[in-house]
Amino acid sequence: MREEYLCRTPEEMENLGRQFGEKAKKGTVISLRGSLGAGKTVFARGLSRALGITESIVSPTFTLIQEYDGTLKMYHMDLYRLSCEEDFIALGGEDFLYSDGICLIEWSEVIDEMLPKGTIYVNIKINEDQSRTVEVTDERSRS
Ligand SMILES: Nc1ncnc2c1ncn2[C@@H]1O[C@H](COP(=O)(O)OP(=O)(O)O)[C@@H](O)[C@H]1O
Ligand SMILES: [Mg+2]
Repeated sequence: MREEYLCRTPEEMENLGRQFGEKAKKGTVISLRGSLGAGKTVFARGLSRALGITESIVSPTFTLIQEYDGTLKMYHMDLYRLSCEEDFIALGGEDFLYSDGICLIEWSEVIDEMLPKGTIYVNIKINEDQSRTVEVTDERSRS
C-alpha cells in the first residue's frame, strides 16, 4: 500500500488526519515521520477530532505519552527525548503498541524495530512553497 497526498494548508493536513481517524480501528498504530514543524501534530489533531476528542492536542514532548478518551482511546506519543528501546519498555510503552485504541507516534525511529506489523507510516515532507507532501505506506521507509 502506498498513497500520496498534497496538503497545501494546515487545514488540509488536519482534514487528512480526520479522514484517517474515520477509518481507524482498534489497535491501529501510526508512525508520524517528518522534520520538526512538518505537521505531525496537526495530523494527530485532525485524527483526534474524528474520534470525538475536543481537547487541544500538543506534542507530548515532555510527558512522552498522552492519553485521550474518544469513541476510541487515542494514545499520542512523542519519543523525541527517548534515547533507547529499553527506556520505552521501562515506561510500559509496549502495551500501547498492542492496545484497544489508536496509537500515534511522533519520532518513533528509536523504537522502529518494535513497531508491530501493520503499522501505518505517514511521512511528511515540507515543500518549498510550504505545502506538505504526505506519503502513507504500510512498509517501513528507508528515508
Ligand atoms: N501545509 C501545511 N500542513 C501542515 N502544517 C503546516 C502547513 N503549512 C504550515 N504549517 C504549520 O506548520 C506547523 C506544524 O507544526 P506541528 O504539527 O506541531 O509539527 P510537528 O509535530 O511535525 O513538529 C504548524 O504551525 C502549522 O500551522
Ligand atoms: Mg509534534
